[in-house]
Amino acid sequence: MRFSLNVDHIATLRNARGEGQPDPVTAALIAEQAGVDGIVVHLREDRRHINERDVRLLRELLSTKLDLEMAATDEIIKIACDVGPELSTIVPERRQELTTEGGINVIDNIARLKDAIIDLHKFEIEVSLFIEPIIDQIDAAASIDSDYIEIHTGIFANSVSEEEQFDELEKIRIAVKHAKKLGLGVNAGHGLDYNNIKIFREIQGIDEVSIGHSVIARALYTGLKEAVQDMIRLTK
Ligand code: PXP
Repeated sequence: MRFSLNVDHIATLRNARGEGQPDPVTAALIAEQAGVDGIVVHLREDRRHINERDVRLLRELLSTKLDLEMAATDEIIKIACDVGPELSTIVPERRQELTTEGGINVIDNIARLKDAIIDLHKFEIEVSLFIEPIIDQIDAAASIDSDYIEIHTGIFANSVSEEEQFDELEKIRIAVKHAKKLGLGVNAGHGLDYNNIKIFREIQGIDEVSIGHSVIARALYTGLKEAVQDMIRLTK
């Protein structure tokens, strides 16, 4: 299973001060040195974290691959076609949401998504649709020539009982099998962390996981001691 790191949270922290640090591009390059398979950024319509400068610099500097998460709006599709990420992951986007809250309804948005895929393919950009583990949604994704689906794992990750977790895992298992039969690549993400990944990796057939929050949160803990010690040395 490949692992791509989402660095949106680094940009959220940068934007909180309106200055240049911490820089998501620098963080992405460190992650590449550590062995990650790719970098994911979500260029939101409201630019609340990642901005165009980040996307263009990442395109120039990354040696792995760039997965641009995006809504299927004319403005963002134009930017994607210009920048040329290896993969565009299309997600639903609501201004009020704290994070992406669930998969896109491919069936209800089929014409718009079909056009978006045609446009992105013209620029040799592969497309992934972020969806729930639902057979009809997977069939719809395949019918409009999506290259990948990304299965929303948030319900699995947030499940409170073992029973609920098992049920959701079973839905994901069936969805992966079905998508593979249709020739789709299968990614997965949202809410995966250092605990639930142990159960999750038992599912066969997932090509890649996209993880952000848990890894960036852990980096603060594992890196804080050294950062404090560095400042102590400088203040003595
Ligand atoms: N995949 C998609 C489509 C997402 O929107 C997100 C959140 O930005 C992730 C994966 C990563 O989720 P998390 O930050 O919870 O690991």
